[in-house]
Amino acid sequence: MITGAGRGLGREHALLFAREGARVLINDVATREGSRASDVVAEVEAAGGIAVANTDSATWEGASSIVGTAVDAWGTVDILINNATAGGYGNVWDFSQADWDRTIAVNLSGYFAMIRQTVPLMAAQGSGVIINTSSGGGFGLPGLVAYASAKEGDIGLTRTVAKEVGRFGIRCNAIRPLALAQSSDSFDEAMLPWARLMQATTGDDPATRGGTSLGAEVLTPPKIPPFVAWLCTDAAANVNGRTFKIGGDQVSLLEEPGLERTIEHEGGWTLDLLDAEAPSGLTKDLTNRWTLEDRPDLADLKKWAD
Ligand SMILES: NC(=O)c1ccc[n+]([C@@H]2O[C@H](COP(=O)([O-])OP(=O)(O)OC[C@H]3O[C@@H](n4cnc5c(N)ncnc54)[C@H](O)[C@@H]3O)[C@@H](O)[C@H]2O)c1
Repeated sequence: MITGAGRGLGREHALLFAREGARVLINDVATREGSRASDVVAEVEAAGGIAVANTDSATWEGASSIVGTAVDAWGTVDILINNATAGGYGNVWDFSQADWDRTIAVNLSGYFAMIRQTVPLMAAQGSGVIINTSSGGGFGLPGLVAYASAKEGDIGLTRTVAKEVGRFGIRCNAIRPLALAQSSDSFDEAMLPWARLMQATTGDDPATRGGTSLGAEVLTPPKIPPFVAWLCTDAAANVNGRTFKIGGDQVSLLEEPGLERTIEHEGGWTLDLLDAEAPSGLTKDLTNRWTLEDRPDLADLKKWAD
């Protein structure tokens, strides 16, 4: 089952999985030509593969029906690729509640809703693989507060699902893909108001394309699915709860966060003790990179009080 597979990376996953002999449920809510689940099913079938289309929303609303479509067709589910995405852009101070809710609904709650419906089937058969599509945006991306929050939430979701249902033979891993897909042009256009901020703040930040030496000709969508499919094979039986960055010709295993420095004071800390010890022992060498002169009109910031 691949959610949001009517175009972009989801479509690429569907085509590769089908070529490799999987029977693929292709889900997408889109009704436009070029993004419809049924169009990708037709492509798969034309190439001799087996697929079924589903147009329910991959959120709390439609998850049960999506899984039901797969079960009706083939009796069970072996692989779930949570890939759908939708959402809005905006400044932190005037980001709309509707955009926040919609972004979280598709990119985080929807991923969990799909997992919740699928885990009992996988547990009953003693095997299954779940892939959650996170994003480098989770490292922090101006203008995309809801998306970044949801995508980093997907990492915590992945780690927890991996730990909790690993004992049923289920594995759950996350990817942070990077590819210039159909969505990239509209993404670049929407990000224009934040372009200078991004350039000034992100540098070699892993969240941005600036963080890679790879060019547009290398960052193509078909470069993403092979590793995703490989993760679903028994060759990756030892991989559970991990995160990978995939882009162009590179695949990277991400470090899991750990403690960088610790200070300890028997009996606990007071503000005076922290003044004495934290700057040298804990926060030394840290720099605040986000105090830019390039500030928006303060009138914008006051909107919330209107
Ligand atoms: N393209 C990249 O470089 C990149 C970078 C980082 C992360 N990602 C992630 O990879 C995944 C695929 O990205 P893409 O660029 O192919 O995106 P895309 O926008 O091209 O495709 C997403 C698809 O999800 C569908 N969708 C939206 N809401 C849905 C819902 N409620 N139910 C079912 N389908 C729904 C859309 O109709 C669309 O066809 C996303 O999760 C995205 O956040 C992509």
